[in-house]
Amino acid sequence: MLLHKIVEVREKINEWKKQGLTVGLVPTMGALHNGHLSLIKKSVEKCDRTVVSVFINPIQFCPGEDLDKYPRTLDADEKLCNDAGVDIIFAPSPKEMYGEGHILSNDFLTYVIPPFFYTNKLCGKSRVGHFDGVCTVVNKLFNIVQPDFAFFGEKDRQQLIILKKMVKDLNIPVEIIPCPIVREESGLALSSRNKYLSSKDREDALALSKILFNIKACYKKGMKDPQILAETVYSFLNENHSLEYLEFRDGDDLEEKKVADDNTIVFIALKIGDVRLIDNVSLK
Ligand code: PAF
Repeated sequence: MLLHKIVEVREKINEWKKQGLTVGLVPTMGALHNGHLSLIKKSVEKCDRTVVSVFINPIQFCPGEDLDKYPRTLDADEKLCNDAGVDIIFAPSPKEMYGEGHILSNDFLTYVIPPFFYTNKLCGKSRVGHFDGVCTVVNKLFNIVQPDFAFFGEKDRQQLIILKKMVKDLNIPVEIIPCPIVREESGLALSSRNKYLSSKDREDALALSKILFNIKACYKKGMKDPQILAETVYSFLNENHSLEYLEFRDGDDLEEKKVADDNTIVFIALKIGDVRLIDNVSLK
């Protein structure tokens, strides 16, 4: 069932809650692919009812980012959700979420601001304010849907760590379920932004997973020094690549790792031509 209004969703949720049914939420920005589908499947398996939100959240895009050209494929998304057994597809407009005139600056809107220690690094460094927008909208979705479980992909691992922290710090009664990255056979992690890649870019995008898998293999052979491990990156890069970051960070609090261990996540952001892609791997 496709719903656009908060009151309609609330009505349905209240009905389910009265019946004692558990609710799973899969927050998305649409352009659904098999990565999303893996989260949806988990929710459908685990919960009595599943809600998928499809909302391109304007307040998590920075000036100059791809808000206008972000792929919008609601009809296809709806079909995929229906086939997967989703009970509600919630696709609100920005006005529905943020009100008349939707004035989006934090002078006019109550924001949820995650701690600076978690946001001043990795993607947060170049995408200033991005995680404020993510935490604010996810909080709103939690309040609207009141899920027992919420499903997030490990592909956006900094986001996942920040959202777990938000839920803990604000005592939000939801359990976050992390879901593993889904990759093409080539190793490329699925992402809605892969749609921007030309066929040449697609080849070059394989560098992300190759770099991460190579670092993990070196770690498994006993190399523990992040600086030395990071140097292996250069043999995978060409003139179409621009490396934004390659960092070794703690899987719980994103602290920098001086020595790699099993709780280390290696994070990478790489621009291929104009397209910025991210990926990560756990060294465990
Ligand atoms: O990961 C995403 O697609 C978005 O950041 C999310 C969690 C749906 C919030 O807009």
